[in-house]
Amino acid sequence: MVGLLTVTISQTNTFLGGHLRRTALICKSFCEYMRYDKDTVYRIYYGALLHDIGMVGMPEKIINTPSEQLSEADFIFFKRHPVIGEKMILSAYDLRQTAKIVRSHHEDFGGDGFPDRLAGSEIPIGARITRLANDYDNLIYKNKIKAKQAAETLKERAGYIYDPKLTPYFIKFIEENVTLKDKETKPAGIKIKDLKIGMYTAEDIMLSNGMLLIPKGIILDSAMLEKIQSFDTLLDTERVVSILR
Ligand SMILES: [Fe+2]
Repeated sequence: MVGLLTVTISQTNTFLGGHLRRTALICKSFCEYMRYDKDTVYRIYYGALLHDIGMVGMPEKIINTPSEQLSEADFIFFKRHPVIGEKMILSAYDLRQTAKIVRSHHEDFGGDGFPDRLAGSEIPIGARITRLANDYDNLIYKNKIKAKQAAETLKERAGYIYDPKLTPYFIKFIEENVTLKDKETKPAGIKIKDLKIGMYTAEDIMLSNGMLLIPKGIILDSAMLEKIQSFDTLLDTERVVSILR
């Protein structure tokens, strides 16, 4: 479901698709760095992958412009996307926890964010982490500033926008993982037989008869791995395919 939604978003706006994917990869790697349990890592990962789903259908100029540079009218429109996103996600029963992250990813730690003006620990941890990763990505790709300067900006805003306890860990993580962006642009190769749950396909996986088995841009789950196994007679399982880790 999350994979299908992610591909759909990427088709509507290339920038948005790339932003969601990069933000989710940062969140997942950061949560693993913090040694959160697997369920928490994936809950936050899925929330980050879908956090801006409510922007689908908004004019390109609103999606592509840094929010602080939007006109007042456009900013009012922009501010609706966390609530719209939550409504979209809530239509899938299993994504209730993900919906909370989507709704709250623009709350400020100091209580001046939107839509609910939550503060501190009232903001779900997944939303606090998504906010850090979201802003880091936007500073680099929308505001076009260097990674070092983006990290400085996060540091300055800790306490009133970002969780002051999480921010130093996040910055340390970013500084120690400067190759994250390279990893994302250069997908890793892995044999089909070694594919695992949670891997993100960077290419279509085709059967030897030319039929599409798993499309590019899908996060593998147990059902998909079973599907791959069930087609092993039509698949060269030693074949190397590209994934994003
Ligand atoms: Fe957003």
